[in-house]
Formats: sequence, structure tokens, C-alpha cells
Amino acid sequence: MELLNRKEHWENIYTTKKPTDVSWFQVYPKSSMEFISLLNLPIDSSIIDIGGGDSNFVDSLLDKGYRDITVLDISAKAIERAKARLGEKASLVNWIVSDVTEFNPDRQYNFWHDRAAFHFLTTEEQSDKYVKIARKGIQGNGYLILGTFSETGPLKCSGLEIKQYSESSMSAKFEKDFKRIKCIKEDHQTPFNTIQNFLFCSFQKRI
Ligand SMILES: C[S@@+](CC[C@H](N)C(=O)[O-])C[C@H]1O[C@@H](n2cnc3c(N)ncnc32)[C@H](O)[C@@H]1O
Repeated sequence: MELLNRKEHWENIYTTKKPTDVSWFQVYPKSSMEFISLLNLPIDSSIIDIGGGDSNFVDSLLDKGYRDITVLDISAKAIERAKARLGEKASLVNWIVSDVTEFNPDRQYNFWHDRAAFHFLTTEEQSDKYVKIARKGIQGNGYLILGTFSETGPLKCSGLEIKQYSESSMSAKFEKDFKRIKCIKEDHQTPFNTIQNFLFCSFQKRI
């Protein structure tokens, strides 16, 4: 999908659908927050949520006391909705509207999180570009947490084709620059009472 079409798609989703109208909605991002605990992520860590949309991950991080949080999304409307939900607390967060494949990080983060954005990059060229950008944007010894549909998950998300990952295909994609720590599978229950099997893997950037 072309860059412009991709943006149009997501602006349209966030303009026309309520949070509970979309399959990826979660009240609480359980798996993502479990990785934060598992890694004992220090409270002064810098965190970026790639394709964060209007998810409640940022709320959970603020509740835990994290204060160096960035949310990046291709959709300005998604960011506007997240800001509106957070109210005054929105000013505690850095917001970036960008396609991740065009993102040129001007700093490095301790913790890079992505739930269900990376899997839309279905060509090798796009996913290789993402790896390069993540390598630039993550500190040495910093962490990368990726959540995608697993090999038993759906083939589409939001009506768009995605690339499913297994533990080994995801590790192979990142292994040059990142060491795998732990992978888990999650059966995500959608608001429509269907199940989507996710794979989440954590990695640490090699120095
Ligand atoms: C399936 S939703 C997941 C949202 C959120 N991460 C969550 O778990 O609730 C995918 C999100 O990624 C964003 N997205 C899709 N492609 C993107 C890209 N190339 N660059 C940045 N964001 C993208 C969409 O706008 C959307 O918010």
C-alpha cells in the first residue's frame, strides 16, 4: 500500500469508528505491561509507542509513574483522540504524527513498543526499513517489544493484509541488531467476542 493511501486509511478509521468498534481495542494492555514488569524498566526510562493510535498503553504508563513517553502514529486523528481522552495529562506526553517508515528519530529510547503496527509492513523492503529505524532509535542495551498476529492469527487487520510472524521469523528479522529475550502468545478477545492470536517478543539491542 502506498504511503498516502495508508495514511488515508487510518485517518478514516479514527474518524468513523469508536474505540470499541475496532478489533484491537483493549481496556488494559496486559501483555505490554507484563513486559515492563519483567524487564524491571526503571521509572526514568524513555519509552516510545510506535503506532500507538488511541490505545490505553500510554494511560497505564502514566499511572505507573513513567514521564518520558512518546506516542507515534501515522494518524493525526488517532493522536487527537488520545490527547482528548487524557485531558491535562496529554501535556506530559510527546506526540509524533508520522509514518514509522519515514520516522527519523532525533534521540534514542530505552524502550520501543509496537503492538500491531509493524505487521502492516508486508514487504521485505518496508520491514527492513523499520529494523534500520528501530536500530537508530533504540539505545544500546535498550529494549524492543513487538506484538504481531501469530501464524495462527488472522491474515488481515483493519481490512488490510498483514504479515504473520512466528518466534523464529520475528527473531530472524531482528537478530543482527537485537538479542531475543522472551516471546509469549496471547489470545486477544476482540470487542466482537472473537479471538486473535498475537505473538509478543522482547529483544535487547546489541551494543
Ligand atoms: C491495529 S492498530 C493498533 C493500535 C495500538 N497499537 C493498539 O495496540 O491499540 C495499528 C495502529 O498503527 C498505526 N499505523 C499503521 N501503520 C503505520 C505506520 N506505517 N506508521 C505509523 N503508524 C502506523 C495505525 O494508525 C493504528 O493506530
